Amino acid sequence: MRVAIIVAVAENGVIGRDGGLPWRLSGDLRRFRALTIGKPVVMGRKTYQSIGRPLPGRRNIVITRNSARLSGAVEAAPDLRAALDRAAIAAAELGADEVFVIGGAGVYREALTMADIIHMTEVHAAAEGAVTFPLPLAAEWREVSRERRSAGDGDDHDYSFVTFERAPA
Ligand SMILES: NC(=O)c1ccc[n+]([C@@H]2O[C@H](COP(=O)([O-])OP(=O)(O)OC[C@H]3O[C@@H](n4cnc5c(N)ncnc54)[C@H](OP(=O)(O)O)[C@@H]3O)[C@@H](O)[C@H]2O)c1
Repeated sequence: MRVAIIVAVAENGVIGRDGGLPWRLSGDLRRFRALTIGKPVVMGRKTYQSIGRPLPGRRNIVITRNSARLSGAVEAAPDLRAALDRAAIAAAELGADEVFVIGGAGVYREALTMADIIHMTEVHAAAEGAVTFPLPLAAEWREVSRERRSAGDGDDHDYSFVTFERAPA
């Protein structure tokens, strides 16, 4: 089972502000849905709360030390390893070959050691916010594709879809 990270990052590494996203990027949200639909998604409890509901059409697995405060619409896991184990079972049930780690900061940092691929949206702006992703990526990651998009209706900034794969050891 492939483990994929999907993240949108400003040029200064910021990914979140005040419990939400620092930008409005409709084009990125459409791509997020297209890539993750039908797959299990693993997230931290604050990311789940920032989305505000289970992502439809996906198995939602939420990492928390206190599962009692989650609704029954999502699966709780006590740590990333347990979440990925649950996600693997869900993926097999769904006939999916991939699970997505969708944030936030600590979950990404841990997942970087075990992921196979990163779907990164580079947001072409310096954003304000306290939640960050560790840029630049370590040398073991190599860029395999890049597509730039100009801001359209519903986008605050230009952005690029960039894919990284783990370089062979
Ligand atoms: N730009 C992007 O692509 C992107 C993606 C995702 C999120 N975000 C943004 O990032 C922010 C949320 O991220 P965040 O880093 O603040 O929080 P987070 O990682 O979403 O959630 C943190 C919580 O997850 C649980 N958790 C995480 N790791 C754990 C572990 N190893 N063991 C046990 N529990 C663990 C804990 O929940 P409990 O406290 O319940 O125990 C912890 O308080 C928001 O602003 C959101 O909009 C941005």
